[in-house]
Amino acid sequence: MSHTLLSTSSVSKSFEGVCALRGVSFDLKAGEVHALVGENGAGKSTLIKIMTGAEQPDAGTLTVAGRDVPHMTPALARSLGIAAIYQQPSLFPHLTVAENLALALETGTVWRRVHWTARRNRALALLEEAGAAIGPERLASTLSMPEQQMVEIAKTVGAAAKIVIMDEPTSSLMDDEVDRLFNVIGMLRTQGAGIVYISHRLEEVFAVSDRITVLRDGETVATRDTRAIDRSELIQTMVGRALTAVFPKRPVAPGAVAIELRRLSNRALGIHDVSLSVRRGEVLGIAGLVGSGRTELAETLFGLVPADGGEMLLHGEPVRIESPSHAIRLGIGYVPEDRRQHGVVLDMAVASNASLASLDAVSSRGLIDRAAERLLAESYVERLRIKTPSVSTQVGALSGGNQQKVALARWLSIGPEILILDEPTQGVDVGAKAEIHALIQDLAERGIAIIMISSELPEVLGMSDRVAVMRAGTVSGVLSRTEATQDRIIALALERP
Ligand SMILES: Nc1ncnc2c1ncn2[C@@H]1O[C@H](COP(=O)(O)OP(=O)(O)OP(=O)(O)O)[C@@H](O)[C@H]1O
Ligand SMILES: [Mg+2]
Repeated sequence: MSHTLLSTSSVSKSFEGVCALRGVSFDLKAGEVHALVGENGAGKSTLIKIMTGAEQPDAGTLTVAGRDVPHMTPALARSLGIAAIYQQPSLFPHLTVAENLALALETGTVWRRVHWTARRNRALALLEEAGAAIGPERLASTLSMPEQQMVEIAKTVGAAAKIVIMDEPTSSLMDDEVDRLFNVIGMLRTQGAGIVYISHRLEEVFAVSDRITVLRDGETVATRDTRAIDRSELIQTMVGRALTAVFPKRPVAPGAVAIELRRLSNRALGIHDVSLSVRRGEVLGIAGLVGSGRTELAETLFGLVPADGGEMLLHGEPVRIESPSHAIRLGIGYVPEDRRQHGVVLDMAVASNASLASLDAVSSRGLIDRAAERLLAESYVERLRIKTPSVSTQVGALSGGNQQKVALARWLSIGPEILILDEPTQGVDVGAKAEIHALIQDLAERGIAIIMISSELPEVLGMSDRVAVMRAGTVSGVLSRTEATQDRIIALALERP
């Protein structure tokens, strides 16, 4: 029988009166992958922050390798062989990938001699092991969310940790990249490491874990052998009610072409010759691997970095979008993948965030009507089941998935003519995922043209009328709903016909 690497016993934690964990007991054995699942705000991230010393528990004990650790700190955790990938990547933006890896892994004083070649080679080897095609010289600030996740994975590989904690490591990765991560996990497990694995993608939980612990409202409701529980029972345990997750896609008679791209290029972002069109009422899914240019295409359309070649037509009229505010005036909305950058304003209240893009709807004669703002926000809190003490709570204090819902509410409330969604259900739990899918379908039925970037193939296949697959900065193929299959999408993404 393998031994216990780490355990928590009756751990509780509150934040300003909000109880995040109450009496949680959890244990991790050598050579196992222990999945931690639960709805948004259930307390998963808080529990792992207690394991890594990023937060202190109010009550309860943490035991590592058989010894009580009354005061865990991040440095102590590291010396005890605990490595974590947090839900939000934590790279230093002004340093290169190699420097970030070195900072996380090298020991010694700042005055030590740095062997640049050795450092670079080590970074290359770790990135390769993690299955990431990322140059070690790239600045972290230029990496996309999924690329940052890959660097975080390389960090844990390099740390040769005994306890590896992964908080949604795959939230923006596609199947092929997830397979590579699973190889890394398999390797760590054979070396006798224990892995805590948090994910909202239940297929992955079933594919990778040995045991599953379910948290609900800060309490452990079950710990089961993965083989002894099935998907519907797991969902029922998580949400406390039965739920059928079927895609609500209904065919919509497509209207006029809302947006058309003719060989659109953006050299600065590595996008070239993208030709596409999206009709009113249509959902165009965009699939592709990390670094294929999906997010960069969205940023071009939204004017974050204006295009420098080709043509863009809105409702048949040629336009050149210079800035996000210009895009918004033209009726284009954008929910970005990295919600911390431009998705939500973390230190503003939920209500103000939700109404940021729809000030017209809540203001009369230039004054913001606070009561209307609250009402609007409350309706979205209810509809998307956003877990927040009130609409005046700062968004930064919400769990990751709930922040994503606020970002979405912001745009749903104005209903733009063209809506670009980058990983709209990333980090969102099963129940809320279904709500968001239903909302996307509603918007399409109201005649909005939707461009939906997603790494989750079931979502792309389930929600899209057509699927454009990107590879190396351009579109490598467009499939109709009937043509689109998992295999064909992956083949186009990899250009392996
Ligand atoms: N720093 C904080 N200040 C105030 N409240 C917090 C803080 N961190 C977490 N919480 C609250 O504690 C609860 C649990 O949050 P936690 O981040 O652990 O959830 P989670 O299970 O990881 O959810 P998700 O799936 O959305 O990531 C939530 O209600 C959240 O709002
Ligand atoms: Mg979390």
